[in-house]
Amino acid sequence: MVSLAQDLKLALDRVAFAQKAGLEPDPWQRDLLRSSSDRVLLNCCRQSGKSTMTAIVVLHRALYHPGSLILCLAPALRQSQELFGKVLDFYRNLGRPVSPAVERKLSLELENGSRIVTLPGSEKTIRGFSGTSLLVLDEAARVEDELYFAVRPMLAVSGGALMMLSTPYGKRGVFYEEWTSGRGWERYEVPASQCPRISEEFLEQERASLPPFICRQEYECSFEETEDQVFTTDMIDRAVTNEVKPLFGTGG
Ligand SMILES: Nc1ncnc2c1ncn2[C@@H]1O[C@H](COP(=O)(O)OP(=O)(O)OP(=O)(O)O)[C@@H](O)[C@H]1O
Ligand SMILES: [Mg+2]
Repeated sequence: MVSLAQDLKLALDRVAFAQKAGLEPDPWQRDLLRSSSDRVLLNCCRQSGKSTMTAIVVLHRALYHPGSLILCLAPALRQSQELFGKVLDFYRNLGRPVSPAVERKLSLELENGSRIVTLPGSEKTIRGFSGTSLLVLDEAARVEDELYFAVRPMLAVSGGALMMLSTPYGKRGVFYEEWTSGRGWERYEVPASQCPRISEEFLEQERASLPPFICRQEYECSFEETEDQVFTTDMIDRAVTNEVKPLFGTGG
């Protein structure tokens, strides 16, 4: 067996690593794997491979950066477990290139000191983890804002990387805010038309059976008005003008 620890190419090139794990990355996936940004937003359609690519990034870091602490979060434990399951599949398929110290249902600890931990996305669960070198938020459009607010200072201290991946879910929440106006992010937008595994025929069937706003959200990376919102965000923006002087409290 080739020792991955000695395989400099796989250590330096995550595209080669993904290929070794049995995947031929799509063009956007190649860009992501070749990027060295430590702030990444993936606004991708359903089934485009965002969790799969993130699993590759997570595993690569654990194997080649000894002592890494990697946290995988999602709104529900089931979702973070799904991501972790992909990490484990790749790890096993690659023949456990670095031996496990402890392999559990929700975490993997390697002999090189790296740890991958799966957590449900609640602000309380991440307390107690310090020194995180990579934090992944899957289904990020649906995580509680409080979680994100707890994550940021933690990463500031550890100097860790952050990846948020999601299909949009309305014009609200931190994923929407960061996508539209956050600073310092590398952004990837991947509609279904850029996913070679989603056919035009399939999309036509979806358009015929789903409400248009759902189709735009799930397949076209579009942040739609939230379902329970009576007034559209545009209507609200237009209604709120700077010309109306507040009655109280500007101090001027
Ligand atoms: N480059 C690739 N080559 C072959 N198959 C791929 C590739 N990328 C992803 N896939 C496959 O596409 C399917 C969807 O991938 P994945 O679950 O990562 O997508 P997702 O964007 O997270 O989807 P969802 O929005 O449903 O969570 C999986 O079966 C995965 O193995
Ligand atoms: Mg996913």
